[in-house]
Amino acid sequence: MTKQMNLGGSFTLPGDSTRVNRMGYGAMQLAGPGVWGPPRDPEAAVAVLREAVNVGVNHIDTSDFYGPHVTNQIIRQALYPYPENLVIVTKVGARRGADKSWLPAISRQELISAVHDNLRNLGLDALDIVNLRLMGDGHGPTEGSLAEPLTILAELKQQGLIRHLGLSNITPTQLAEAQTITEIVCLQNLYNVVHREDDAFLDDLARQGIAYVPFFPLGGFSPLQSSALDAVAASLQATPMQVALAWLLQRSPNILLIPGTSSVAHLRENLQAARLQLPAEAVADLDAIGRSSKQ
Ligand SMILES: NC(=O)c1ccc[n+]([C@@H]2O[C@H](COP(=O)([O-])OP(=O)(O)OC[C@H]3O[C@@H](n4cnc5c(N)ncnc54)[C@H](OP(=O)(O)O)[C@@H]3O)[C@@H](O)[C@H]2O)c1
Repeated sequence: MTKQMNLGGSFTLPGDSTRVNRMGYGAMQLAGPGVWGPPRDPEAAVAVLREAVNVGVNHIDTSDFYGPHVTNQIIRQALYPYPENLVIVTKVGARRGADKSWLPAISRQELISAVHDNLRNLGLDALDIVNLRLMGDGHGPTEGSLAEPLTILAELKQQGLIRHLGLSNITPTQLAEAQTITEIVCLQNLYNVVHREDDAFLDDLARQGIAYVPFFPLGGFSPLQSSALDAVAASLQATPMQVALAWLLQRSPNILLIPGTSSVAHLRENLQAARLQLPAEAVADLDAIGRSSKQ
């Protein structure tokens, strides 16, 4: 029985009527340690996905290089046949080395294979949204033309294998170049209450109606730690993770959240953040964390 929750309202992506709840789910944590191999507890991984969809999450972020292949296979196992309104967003542009490293993979053949791998492992005829993930310097972007790889993905979109394109780990200059090639509906960069390098970029994307989907919304592999975050959380009888997510939801209406977790308890806790209203003084205290981390 479905228990639909308030998931922060919804956002309509540019280009058509694709609409998602602002609180989504990021599936990277479902693979094994180091995003490699099978999960420690496969049943728990399936349970997290089913609980998310059961309460109304209709935006799941993934990639075939998580595992590799493992995360997509778990999504298929847990959710196929997919609910009609579910939007699965995947990314291409990287591959995993045998030593578990993350390597660029943006040649024509690598991109075509990656799209077909995603289609096969997710059990789909077309991918809802594919983000071109540039490796940059790891978690931050570096300048350079993306025309070649993006043109290949635009061809795959024209062939009907991809419905929409997005970008990940890129700069405003790269977005402008991309928009001369194809429509971009969403962007995934590192951003959270501590890491706010994209503040101006995010505001520009809001003006353009493009979704901004922060990765590492909770700090990623080392979850956020801040005494200011703890103090606000205590004052609101919430957890620091809920406050970090609520701050993002209040930061801008084009922010869509994909917090990652391998635990049903954490998933429930995170989704409850959509009900948290941060008073102005709390927002001011949280804004100061980002300012002090820039000094
Ligand atoms: N485009 C990109 O380059 C890129 C890069 C990284 C990630 N992503 C996407 O973004 C999503 C989110 O990023 P992420 O999962 O790496 O990082 P995250 O959402 O910032 O944080 C995940 C970490 O926080 C822990 N956590 C989650 N909820 C918690 C809670 N309520 N209390 C305490 N700890 C909690 C998780 O551990 P537990 O499993 O124990 O809950 C995990 O260690 C990913 O799943 C992936 O889909 C994209």
